[in-house]
Amino acid sequence: MLMKASVSGTGEKTGGIALRNLQKRYGSAVAVDEVSLCVKPGEFISLLGPSGSGKTTTLMMIAGFEMPDSGQILLDDEDITRLPPHRRELGVIFQNYALFPHMTVAENVAYPLRMRRVAKREVEARVHRALDQVDLGALASRRPHQMSGGQQQRVAIARALVFEPPVLLLDEPLGALDKKLREHLRNEIKTLHKEVGKTMIYVTHDQDEALAMSDRVAVMHQGRIRQVSAPQDLYRRPADLFVAGFVGEVNLISAKLKSGVAYGPAGERLPAAPWTDADRDATLCVRPEHLHLDMNPAGSSGGMQGRITGMTFVGDATIFEFRSESGLQLTSKVLNVSAEAMPDVGDSCVAWWAANDATILIE
Ligand SMILES: Nc1ncnc2c1ncn2[C@@H]1O[C@H](COP(=O)(O)OP(=O)(O)OP(=O)(O)O)[C@@H](O)[C@H]1O
Ligand SMILES: [Mg+2]
Repeated sequence: MLMKASVSGTGEKTGGIALRNLQKRYGSAVAVDEVSLCVKPGEFISLLGPSGSGKTTTLMMIAGFEMPDSGQILLDDEDITRLPPHRRELGVIFQNYALFPHMTVAENVAYPLRMRRVAKREVEARVHRALDQVDLGALASRRPHQMSGGQQQRVAIARALVFEPPVLLLDEPLGALDKKLREHLRNEIKTLHKEVGKTMIYVTHDQDEALAMSDRVAVMHQGRIRQVSAPQDLYRRPADLFVAGFVGEVNLISAKLKSGVAYGPAGERLPAAPWTDADRDATLCVRPEHLHLDMNPAGSSGGMQGRITGMTFVGDATIFEFRSESGLQLTSKVLNVSAEAMPDVGDSCVAWWAANDATILIE
């Protein structure tokens, strides 16, 4: 459900948000733990994490519906930590975007303005503009039950936009919709973001959604932010094992780093960027699409001997299961782009990857 946001502010806010050491406990459980984050004006940032990682609690503290135990929230350098929600000028869209069933679309969108006693003519103009922004101008006189889930969600977005808040907070707004519609609407939200240029903080547990939509993604786990990065960096250079495993598929290969070289479980040399620090144990992270299975391995610079133990056709790609002689189970993803013969189950081969495609993690 959309919560009220204020229209009484200056309207000059640029929408930069800073969280400083936010802490929130429920009883003895820490829901949000020392969260710090700077969101630039106009940025689209996602809070991504598994269930219970503290995403909603963080968003509710920004919106003002939960009070932090400690820490600070700044909007354009103004401390809003203790302000009530309606004085924060933030548009909020929740997962269950309940519209008022007895009101038309236009009345739903107008509601927050009416609450603020905005003049009637001004209300009409603003509602019109907000509905146009979400391409629903033609359906203004419908009632919610006469619309699809996706259209209702767009009404909820229009209702949040009608205030012209500098910041929109969205908590899993597409969670209740089917996959196709979700993908369609995420493109629409992205387009809307480009058009209106507002700061958007978007909560999701869907990695694809976060990677596809965001300028940056903050990955949360057990109340903490583990990494904040642009999608490409998050995927290519995960900061720790949690992020590596949560964002996309990954092969984790335990290795020993010795005199600058990585060695696998059977003492085989593994492709990895030269290691300049002291010798130690590490984990190499290699994405399935970077793991190649070579039937004629002459010339490859290190890798693992083994056999193909399974293959699955998934439409655009084939997923190979590989078992190394040392017993490690790895996955390789090969795009089905050519009619070339593919290796088969039982074939022996060498699994290898480019040195730069392996992320070395030390924990
Ligand atoms: N009102 C509350 N009272 C007690 N515990 C709460 C309350 N709200 C949240 N929690 C707890 O705080 C932790 C973080 O919850 P939060 O709702 O922020 O997670 P989330 O990341 O949004 O998860 P989901 O993806 O399931 O929505 C959880 O362990 C949750 O059980
Ligand atoms: Mg939540």
